[in-house]
Amino acid sequence: MKKLLSESFASDPRVVEAKRLLMEALSDHQRRLDGIRPSEAERRAHYEESVGRLGKVRARPLALPYIGSGLGKGALVELADGSVKLDLISGIGVHCLGHSHPEVVEACFQATLHDIVMQGNLQQNEEALTLSELLLEMANRTGADLTHCFLTTSGAMANENALKIAFQKAHPADRLLAFEGGFAGRSLALSQVTDRADYRRGLPGTVEVDYIPFYNSDRPDQSTERALEALRGHLARHPGRHAAMCFELVLGEGGFYEGRREFFVPLMDLLKRAGISILIDEIQTFGRTEQPFSFQHFGLDPYVDLVTVGKLTQACATLFKEELKPSAELVSQTFIASTSALTAGLAILKHLVGGGYFGPEGKNAQIQEQFHTRLTDLATRHPSWIKGPFGLGTMIAFTPLDGSKETARALVQTLFTEGVAAYTAGEKPCRIRFLVPAGAVTLEDIDKAFEILERCLATVAGDASEKGTP
Ligand SMILES: Cc1ncc(COP(=O)(O)O)c(C=O)c1O
Repeated sequence: MKKLLSESFASDPRVVEAKRLLMEALSDHQRRLDGIRPSEAERRAHYEESVGRLGKVRARPLALPYIGSGLGKGALVELADGSVKLDLISGIGVHCLGHSHPEVVEACFQATLHDIVMQGNLQQNEEALTLSELLLEMANRTGADLTHCFLTTSGAMANENALKIAFQKAHPADRLLAFEGGFAGRSLALSQVTDRADYRRGLPGTVEVDYIPFYNSDRPDQSTERALEALRGHLARHPGRHAAMCFELVLGEGGFYEGRREFFVPLMDLLKRAGISILIDEIQTFGRTEQPFSFQHFGLDPYVDLVTVGKLTQACATLFKEELKPSAELVSQTFIASTSALTAGLAILKHLVGGGYFGPEGKNAQIQEQFHTRLTDLATRHPSWIKGPFGLGTMIAFTPLDGSKETARALVQTLFTEGVAAYTAGEKPCRIRFLVPAGAVTLEDIDKAFEILERCLATVAGDASEKGTP
């Protein structure tokens, strides 16, 4: 077959050489990124002003005073003030190969050769097909039966599309089920699914949601019974009215609480008997446990009807079963993703699949073990400083000091100033979480992070005792 013009372009010796030079220059400049660094005095004032302006223009101060310079190496990232931070939150779980990873840079270089920046409903290039099929293949590897994949631009849109699909199938059902403490995104409908009153203050009610208590590891046996009782109650009160139940198998924003297979199965059995679709939100969990999907980790493959992914996949997606296939008019978007999100997403998935991340001895399990061992050691030496560890795989959390939001926020800011990016999760207690970039973090990074964490905990604990709080 004759080469396409695009293939001749991509293999033009000038393009090949440009890519080689780009990768060589990247590696040369990355060499100078060799550790956490404070900001440069001459950049400080301008940087602080930019952080203030950015907060002002978006009508909300930045959660972390972070403006990236555009270059990083592994878990290290250079900021626009010349400082270098160790990033253990990765944009809340987006940059799982860290910063300026050569395979991602190369994938984005490929994207620059494309004719279009954004791909969408009417015009898609081959990556959209490859990514969709790869996601389906990964999802079905251990027994799920998902046949379709619709790409989209955000986790919220992936969930919106999933809900529309479930509602259309169950018409005229008009209610949803979701877990207490769950998070599903910030659209109008998802603000109702997300169990946070402050995230929906001032918003009109859109869809009615009935909540089920999540697994409580302090009372495992009672957990299942309580959840089943709540579910039976909702089904009896509103017969035939529920289209789907939204499952986050590890509550992410809620504070990294994971359920158990024994807890999920009876709920899912009951939902199946009632003909209610099971939507698994993998937007935060995908790629972080011992299996690509957390439903595979928990062995729930036969139950899943719809699955959403996002964050580390770069392009987001709704995967669903044949019997849920919506009418052609129901889901459609001008943008499904940028070309670079598609090429980078593919590169990341291929890296994860081929890179030894999954399985009981995989990198994700090793990272969990390394963090949990160090957190346990810290908790043993300073029992009043932290409770934990909590979380599953590369979703790692602990509760600092009194578990208040103020203390957790103070620790996040102190850690950031000292060079480690982490974030909070949950409310009561408010935890510190790491979404560890598994494809980037090194043992040396982890040692450094814990040295800084111990110092910062001492500072925040000292400040708290000065103020008279325990
Ligand atoms: C479980 C879960 N669902 C949905 C979302 C929404 O994704 P996005 O912020 O990309 O809209 C998030 C984001 O944090 C999430 O953690």
